[in-house]
Amino acid sequence: MPPLVFAGEARRLTAALGEAASGRAFVLQAGDCSESFAELSADSIRDKLRVILQMAVVLTYGAGLPVVKIGRIAGQFAKPRSSPTEVVDGVELPAFRGHMVNDDLPTQQARTPDPSRLLAAYHQSASTLNLLRAFTKGGFADLSQVHSWTQQFVAASEEGRRYEQIAGEIDRALRFMAACGIGLTTEAALHQVELNTSHEALLLGYEEALTRVDSLTGDWYDCSAHMLWVGERTRQVDGAHIEFLSGVHNPVGAKIGPAATPEEVLAICERLNPSRIPGRLTLITRMGSAKVRERLPSLLEAVAGSGHPVVWVCDPMHGNTFVSDSGHKTRRFDEIVDEIRGFFEVHHDSGTWPGGLHVELTGDDVTECLGGIGDIAEDQLHERYTTTCDPRLNARQAIDLAFRVAELLRT
Ligand code: PEP
Ligand code: CO
Repeated sequence: MPPLVFAGEARRLTAALGEAASGRAFVLQAGDCSESFAELSADSIRDKLRVILQMAVVLTYGAGLPVVKIGRIAGQFAKPRSSPTEVVDGVELPAFRGHMVNDDLPTQQARTPDPSRLLAAYHQSASTLNLLRAFTKGGFADLSQVHSWTQQFVAASEEGRRYEQIAGEIDRALRFMAACGIGLTTEAALHQVELNTSHEALLLGYEEALTRVDSLTGDWYDCSAHMLWVGERTRQVDGAHIEFLSGVHNPVGAKIGPAATPEEVLAICERLNPSRIPGRLTLITRMGSAKVRERLPSLLEAVAGSGHPVVWVCDPMHGNTFVSDSGHKTRRFDEIVDEIRGFFEVHHDSGTWPGGLHVELTGDDVTECLGGIGDIAEDQLHERYTTTCDPRLNARQAIDLAFRVAELLRT
């Protein structure tokens, strides 16, 4: 199959991430925990893109810096699992491993791996990426348009009005640019955006099949996405996944959980970025709100001491997951915010740059995470709980979160 992305695009992303490694940009990486074959539609792609763009505008204003936008999209179909089986209604079934492997329905047949799903995932990635490219280059990402959606969010509820001041400031900034003769609909930078794709490089057979030699440089690139990351469960420094990522020239990431030691993290830095190229390596910490202030400082100190240029990104989702009394996997909005706050505090104390945010979200009005705008309660989780894997922020919770992070960035 043809590659999905071009090596030159991956190199541009490395350069943009290099700015985030040096404190001159902020990263927003966001999308589904696990993309679904059942949810492929223009509307769902558009709505997800819209909320990512809205978050990015708010964060750009908060940081006063460029925001590097990366979707967990167009390839995020494979899931690592803590347990190979699960029990549903008393029956033990193989775990769901993402639509690239099996189906989420709780039957033996649905859970049987089917290799034709690899091809289906490729085709869904191609059509998703095609529409994303059309939207981001064709006017959908127009800055004044994106801001007007956010203003509707701010006006629509009491909680949203909390952000009236920032939204008003963005509004004035846009009118100022227009008054200076900068055309918001004609100026390419305000009219188009770069949206990069990323996913966890979990199924190495799939990733290898899309790994090609770049004709311009002679280097190997994994052309299934611009950026690939290795998950918390597969980041062993002598393991296959790190070995694979060490051989491609894309920007790569590694998830870092609370059990990671400074030695392990330094070994990952050496292995994935021996030439110390800024932007090549992003460390995505996912400690949990209760542990971030305790576990992160020694890692920051070790990496800073080694001189490795890394982008530090906070994933406030995966360390804060629990099962509610109703049996739903969920996360509390307040704990998500608290982990981000802890991440900023620890970076502030160690003089390092809190370089970005990694979240699971959807553009749909789901009820999967607790609290936030709309104050979703435990007894509401069942109402619109449609994720095939981890609980996602809905569009309003995601924009709410962006405003809170913008406030943190400004202080
Ligand atoms: C994920 O990003 O969906 C995931 C499984 O994360 P982690 O590897 O950090 O647990
Ligand atoms: Co997840």
